Amino acid sequence: MSKPTYYITTPIYYPSNKLHIGHSYTTVAADAMARYKRLRGYDVMFLTGTDEHGQKIERRAQEDGVTPQAFVDNIVDWIKELWKTMDITYDKFIRTTDKEHKETVQKIFKTLYGQGDIYKSEYEGMYCTPCETFFTEHQLVDGKCPDCGRAVEKVKEESYFFKLSAYQDRLIQYIEDHPEFIQPQTRQNEMLNNFLRPGLEDLCVSRTSFKWGVPVEFDPGHVVYVWIDALSNYISALGYLQQEDEAFKKYWPADVHLVGKEIVRFHAIIWPALLMALKLPLPKQVFGHGWLVINGGKMSKSVGNVVDPSVLVGRYSSDAIRYFLLREIAFGQDGNFTNEALITRINSDLANDLGNLTSRTVAMIEKYFEAGLPELQEENEFDESVKKLVEIQIKKAEDNMEKLFFNNALEDIWVLIRRLNKYIDETMPWVLAKDEKSFPKLAGVLYTLAEGLRIVSIMIEPFMPQTPEKIWAQIGLERGAFTDWDSIHSWGVLPKAVKAKKGENMFPRIDKEKELAILEATHTTEAAPQAKEKIQEEPKEVQQPEYITIDDFSKVELKIGEVIACERVPKADKLLVSKIQIGEEVRQIVSGIAAYYTPEEFVGKKVVVVTNLKPVKLRGLLSEGMVLCAADEAGKLVAVGPLGDIVSGAEVR
Ligand code: MSP
Repeated sequence: MSKPTYYITTPIYYPSNKLHIGHSYTTVAADAMARYKRLRGYDVMFLTGTDEHGQKIERRAQEDGVTPQAFVDNIVDWIKELWKTMDITYDKFIRTTDKEHKETVQKIFKTLYGQGDIYKSEYEGMYCTPCETFFTEHQLVDGKCPDCGRAVEKVKEESYFFKLSAYQDRLIQYIEDHPEFIQPQTRQNEMLNNFLRPGLEDLCVSRTSFKWGVPVEFDPGHVVYVWIDALSNYISALGYLQQEDEAFKKYWPADVHLVGKEIVRFHAIIWPALLMALKLPLPKQVFGHGWLVINGGKMSKSVGNVVDPSVLVGRYSSDAIRYFLLREIAFGQDGNFTNEALITRINSDLANDLGNLTSRTVAMIEKYFEAGLPELQEENEFDESVKKLVEIQIKKAEDNMEKLFFNNALEDIWVLIRRLNKYIDETMPWVLAKDEKSFPKLAGVLYTLAEGLRIVSIMIEPFMPQTPEKIWAQIGLERGAFTDWDSIHSWGVLPKAVKAKKGENMFPRIDKEKELAILEATHTTEAAPQAKEKIQEEPKEVQQPEYITIDDFSKVELKIGEVIACERVPKADKLLVSKIQIGEEVRQIVSGIAAYYTPEEFVGKKVVVVTNLKPVKLRGLLSEGMVLCAADEAGKLVAVGPLGDIVSGAEVR
């Protein structure tokens, strides 16, 4: 009989920035679920990938002086590497620049146009480029993007429209009939009350003002709106409308799309309407999780509060970070990320609870029964309650996994771990070991511990894929029938003659004070110089993957320059082109600061210039360096300059 299927997706990530720990959160959650379902015997398709088109990427590439394709290729390789270090077992990685994906998008567009669901008209409205989203005037907040608070641009262009409004009633009906479709419940209410019931407008689904997108096949001046392009990945990745469409037939409809709360709207309104128009079944669930926040604000590159997951993985292991993310934050709600909470969790849950249970169990078996536990084992008065609890906690954890309540499932497992630790204190094996007559009882106690540990080790595998094998090696197990998920449903599967062998300390205790100082320095630029002193005090084996050496820093040549002339770049409303005196020489530099300085204001300013940056052409103008600017959350820029009097050409170091 063929296995049941399970199709789970993450959103596809914008490769415009390197990903931070907030992005890893969605992917780690999806991976835990995919692993869990595989362990439960499902044929799993776990999809992730990158969302590579759009004006934002076109502009970023232009600023860097490279083609959009070269720009995205570079970041996509980095993202794949990150997923490897976090043990993400995706089955397919889709890129919206893949040929097959683009063809599917074109066919979808053509089909919808052919049947009248897409029509041509003229669009006039506000567009937020960072969010790649159109807004009507009344949706703006203080004239700014309601999602990110940044400035929007007025666009007027001939466009294609999708008849979203025609699907409004069917969507409302569907959501009301399928309460499990949008989860958690709060998001469902939000969709109905804030978007669907007030009324939907038709959606502009093509752009003519930039080129970096999927061209509309029958009208190549237009590129397909990025969200239509992006959402289609969930079916194009399976071969929809392609020659090889077995995967589509096998896995669609998806069991769950895991997405952050700010993009539920696209997945719970636009995507189902498109699928209805294509006469395809809808995904069984869209689950909108909360954000990882720092001091109440969303972690984001522009706020400068991002935490690099590879730094954390390098210091504490991917298992520890995965555990922390899924344990600390109630899935569905926002959760605060702090270094302190991370270290506390590692010390208390991993080093103390799980680490101690493993090391105490293994050490006692090794010490008292070097040759392995004897056949003669007696039960004691605490065994029954342990076995009962095992049964209850397994059931609870399984139920919570089905609901994607990862933190609850982990808590269920930890109840068991803590109970087993308590069992050691109750049975006092070291007392039993004093009297030979108690050896059968002692053997029984140690067997209960080893069997409990085996069950726990299997249950943590979806979350912490590297730890189980480390535990198994210590109680004489290898992956096989005794480590199957199904085996946890019967007590006593572990062969009686357990032989133990102490292994490495899986989660060494962390010196909190010392570690916090290092982490602070790693995540915030201001603290960096202090960090360098601290690092030198660290023992050699501690990895410092994210620091640069003074040699790295000295590769960047920074000098004081004085702006001696400046003008706007024609037809580029963000750019100024300046002549900057740097010692003896004068350089031409193009900077994206026209929104913050007039040419008149900028002339006479002393600024910091990167002078050994490879020259690039921007809008046809040679730019020989870069003026350093500070950026705030809203993207506002302020040029950086010297605080005292100093000649142009002076080195900044
Ligand atoms: N490209 C779109 C998705 C298209 S799906 C058809 C996109 N990309 S993204 O890179 O900006 O975000 C990807 C996912 O990361 C989203 O689900 C988003 O919610 C999530 N996160 C980004 N920052 C986050 C936190 N600080 N915390 C939790 N998740 C966060 O949106």
